[in-house]
Amino acid sequence: MIDDLKEKFLNELESVISPADLFQLRVNYLGKKGHLTSALKALSSATPDERPLLGKKINDVKQFVEAHIASKEAAFKNEELKKQLLAGAIDITLPGKYAAFGKEHPINQVLFEITDIFVKMGFSVEEGPEVETDYYNFEALNFPKDHPARDMQDTFFVSDDIVLRTHTSPVQVRGMEKRKPPVRFIAPGKVYRCDADITHTPMFHQVEGLMVDKDITFSNLKGILEAFLHQMFGPDTRVRFRPSFFPFTEPSAEVDIGCILCGGSGCRVCKNSGWLEILGAGMVNPAVFKNVGYDTEIYTGFAFGMGIERIAMLKYAIDDIRLFYENDIRFLRQF
Ligand code: DAH
Repeated sequence: MIDDLKEKFLNELESVISPADLFQLRVNYLGKKGHLTSALKALSSATPDERPLLGKKINDVKQFVEAHIASKEAAFKNEELKKQLLAGAIDITLPGKYAAFGKEHPINQVLFEITDIFVKMGFSVEEGPEVETDYYNFEALNFPKDHPARDMQDTFFVSDDIVLRTHTSPVQVRGMEKRKPPVRFIAPGKVYRCDADITHTPMFHQVEGLMVDKDITFSNLKGILEAFLHQMFGPDTRVRFRPSFFPFTEPSAEVDIGCILCGGSGCRVCKNSGWLEILGAGMVNPAVFKNVGYDTEIYTGFAFGMGIERIAMLKYAIDDIRLFYENDIRFLRQF
């Protein structure tokens, strides 16, 4: 009977086609009431002479059954794994997906270019808050209470006393409060004005500059700004200073360069004047020095400020400022 069991098992194993079948087969042979378990129990009724041989036979069959079940089980596992791998297979002959590389925004490119030029001339870089108090944005910079720039039309008010800074000039004041002369820094950053058309966005960027020491004169201002403009726009760029007015400088100037688009012969961008207005500048008004506790008898200084978007627009001949902020990849890729 035990001799037939091997054969019977092999036959049944052949018809096993699933892990569930195999489980059932295992129960039938090795389970509590399985054929082999029963055979081992029946061993006690065998005669003492028969017992060792029969016991060995049953154990042999048991090992045989266990080994076959284990190998069938491994085969099922293998098949399952193959199925999973096949399901998740990728076609390695397909072209890969490229991750787009990011790059600096054109506004940042221009901003870093400007920063580099001034850093090489010994200026450090200063930062200030974009949400600013009326004091730093206006008062300390000598803006009279009724100055039009303080108007709701231009300034975003957070509260009566708090504004979104309308220019980077407040960083002058904060920078001077922090240190004693000599002072030489630029302050790049975002500024906000309630204005929107093809040359204005409510948020834009400026770079402020400040240099304070003994014996700083208007010639120093001219020298530094000319050196900057020649590096920025080319060594042959013509530069001119026009008298102007800012509350925080006296005297004040507006600085123009020869039109970089038409070379000075006159075009739409320079409105046929041959000149482009690039920055505002002047000698720091003693009223501002008084606000930060600098001795106006000992120290003089100059300041300047420029809009980055405007410079970027001129440099790349872009006629609509809004293009910078639409995030159209086709536009941004060109820089
Ligand atoms: N803050 C001025 C503006 O936003 C720009 C400016 C002009 C800054 C003259 C200066 C300066 O430091 O001296 O229009």
